[in-house]
Amino acid sequence: MPLKRKSETNEADETTHAKRRTRSSRRDAEGVHAGEAAPKRGGSELHSHADRTEDLAEDSSVKHQTEERKGPVTGLGDTSNETGGLKPYPISKVYRLIEPGPVLLVATGSLAEGTHNIMTIGFHMVMQHESPPLIGISLGPWDASFAVLKKHRECVLAVPSVEMVEMVVDVGNCSSADGVDKWAKFGLEPLPAKKVKAPLVGGPDVIANVECVVEDTKMVGKYSMWVLRVVGAWQNPTRMETGRMFHHRGDGTFVVDGEVLDLQEKMVKWKEYQD
Ligand SMILES: Cc1cc2nc3c(=O)[nH]c(=O)nc-3n(C[C@H](O)[C@H](O)[C@H](O)COP(=O)(O)O)c2cc1C
Repeated sequence: MPLKRKSETNEADETTHAKRRTRSSRRDAEGVHAGEAAPKRGGSELHSHADRTEDLAEDSSVKHQTEERKGPVTGLGDTSNETGGLKPYPISKVYRLIEPGPVLLVATGSLAEGTHNIMTIGFHMVMQHESPPLIGISLGPWDASFAVLKKHRECVLAVPSVEMVEMVVDVGNCSSADGVDKWAKFGLEPLPAKKVKAPLVGGPDVIANVECVVEDTKMVGKYSMWVLRVVGAWQNPTRMETGRMFHHRGDGTFVVDGEVLDLQEKMVKWKEYQD
């Protein structure tokens, strides 16, 4: 794949990248031991709390109170209560309402040593633009990649395009812990990275690769949240403009990037992020 270093791109490429951003519709590590029982994804403790709260929201007495409090109809539905027709939504499923950015692949381990692994993530966020650029990812001990990331403290985040969606979902539904070599199984091409031991993900439909080192593990123990510092980035020039990313809606369904809305003129307070 003709990967091109981001820092070597020209102004036109940068402008394109800025437009792409508008396209996107949206236990301290040292304290966790690789051998301990893997909790359910998302944290069993948090989940049970959420479930209890969900049960409360669906408690019949709560429903009864809601039904008794009649209020004006506001056009949001045909239920005439004070919430204007809005219905309770289970807090354990709120992630489905605000799923973050595109589904990514995370490559860990060492290409040179042949210990590289790959997995899928949907929970991540940009935490800081620059000085240094920081990205937070949720990657938990239920993933074999967790122990690998803990050991090497480096990874690559790859941005796949929609042509890869079924394979990316399959990658997230099997584990190297079961003896699967996902690179071979799914025909993924590992390429040497410049700054980290984990490989870049090659292939014509990969939009970009981001080389990262672990910056902060304070939130790993409690939230499986790793703060990563970006140390290198690569774009596939044939896919930066045409590649469409896909976003997990949290329930096994996905939305794909569509129309680009260029509202740069309205972003008067944030001009420095449009170059
Ligand atoms: C669409 C999708 C999104 C996922 N998002 C995450 C995530 O954000 N964090 C996480 O730890 N696991 C996530 N997973 C699950 C991992 O990809 C999965 O546990 C994988 O098997 C881990 O591979 P490994 O055990 O070889 O590391 C996701 C899976 C899918 C299919």
